Amino acid sequence: MPRETVLILDFGSQYTQLIARRVRELGCYSEIVPGTASLARIRSHRPAALILSGSPASGYRAEAPQPDPGVYALGKPLLGICYGFQVTQLLLGGDVAKAKHAEYGVATFVQDGRSPLFAGVPKRFRAWMSHGDEVRALAPGWVKVAHTSNCAFAAARHATKPFHLIQFHPEVVHSPYGGQVLANFLFRIAKLRGGWSMKHFVREAVREIRVQVGSGRVLCGLSGGVDSTVAATLIHRAIGDRLTCVLVDHGLMRLDEAAEVERELGARRHLNLRVVNAEARFLAKLDGVTDPERKRKIIGNEFVAVFEREAKRIGKVHFLAQGTLYPDVIESASAGFGAQVIKSHHNVGGLPERMKMRLVEPLKWLFKDEVRALGRELGLPEHLVDRHPFPGPGLAVRILGAVNRPDLDILRQADAIFLAELRRAKWYGRTWQAFAVLLPVATVGVKGDERSYERVIALRAVDSVDGMTADWTRLPPALLARIASRIANEVRGVNRVVFDVTSKPPATIEWE
Ligand code: XMP
Repeated sequence: MPRETVLILDFGSQYTQLIARRVRELGCYSEIVPGTASLARIRSHRPAALILSGSPASGYRAEAPQPDPGVYALGKPLLGICYGFQVTQLLLGGDVAKAKHAEYGVATFVQDGRSPLFAGVPKRFRAWMSHGDEVRALAPGWVKVAHTSNCAFAAARHATKPFHLIQFHPEVVHSPYGGQVLANFLFRIAKLRGGWSMKHFVREAVREIRVQVGSGRVLCGLSGGVDSTVAATLIHRAIGDRLTCVLVDHGLMRLDEAAEVERELGARRHLNLRVVNAEARFLAKLDGVTDPERKRKIIGNEFVAVFEREAKRIGKVHFLAQGTLYPDVIESASAGFGAQVIKSHHNVGGLPERMKMRLVEPLKWLFKDEVRALGRELGLPEHLVDRHPFPGPGLAVRILGAVNRPDLDILRQADAIFLAELRRAKWYGRTWQAFAVLLPVATVGVKGDERSYERVIALRAVDSVDGMTADWTRLPPALLARIASRIANEVRGVNRVVFDVTSKPPATIEWE
């Protein structure tokens, strides 16, 4: 069964990824390309349907990103959202200008005529708008479908072609009928089969990995995090023993982390796994280093050196696996304007070029929660799949100041208590990231009848979508009290626990 791809042309809207997600949630595979992509590139994706996103730009300005006009000749079902509506009208002969009243927020739509796009949607419905421009007159061949009190043309369709345009954003939660509208477009108008799921993804990904790798061998760096664990499990399913995984244990991981990965992937699933215990080497290099950026640099360099040495021992390997995710790949926001936003993964920074290896990136079409769903589909246990993000330099950036083994042990114990209590109280999954930090100060306390002079642990728990901004998680006081009491009582060398209530910005998520 060939894959049905819904291709989203991105003109820089902050909601483009959300459109892609909603479409996938409805069971149709979707991909995002820059709105200005050439017709040849668009064709190469073999789209079954097209969606034109919104944009911060004004269509009638010279610098505005425009789709290749050829997309309208492809004959594929097309949905234009907000700017996608306006730019379509501009290109096909409609009139677009600055709106008298910009509309931001929920507006009431009134349907003027019938459209399959609104099947099952009431004649009057509320939906979310965010626009300063509007269509003043439709191009020839187009029919008005809905209006709002401020916007005469709030939805339109082509008289004969499967083209539909809407001024509102169906992808946001503030548009209660948005899901229905998207489903109507995909299934009534584009007549897609749907049914795309992780099962399909696994089947296709396994086939693609086999085609790419041929009879070659793949090397995969495991960090203990979700992405590399899932990528390795998937590649193993495709090529078995021709995958070799290397876990560089730098001694800066959480309690039992390396052992858990070894148990699950090595002992249970029989992945070809080498755990390199490089703790002594990393700690020696970090000895006395207090500057966070120097710590990061040292750890990054050591990681590459250890990984490279191990790879040489394995012999000739042509491919390097990487857990790159879709948000890292998408030429997002600025896409329509020519720039590319691609994050670098520090773990393997510079490795592929130096080692002349080609990349295998089986997760590069997935969002984070889809990677988790994939992990579950592959049978990985929940506690590996739901793991919070963890920085590459590990606990080294959570011990403020110089790093040493006794402090690492203190921090690991405190962190493990914090996370175990969060899991027990069902808060682990409700927070983006939670961890303990060891502060380089001692405070006075009293244990039994004795005065103590011991260290302080700071707890950090944050809510976030992408780690770019964050707010502290409102954990229940009773839970915080239990965690603080356990840490101060059970972890030797700690007599005080504080909770960080700063958002990002102005703070960052990590303390270093
Ligand atoms: P900050 O502290 O910048 O963190 O607010 C944002 C997100 O990035 C993670 N982080 C790192 N990840 N190497 C990484 O791989 C690093 O050096 C690093 N520093 C921060 C942090 O845990 C959070 O999820």
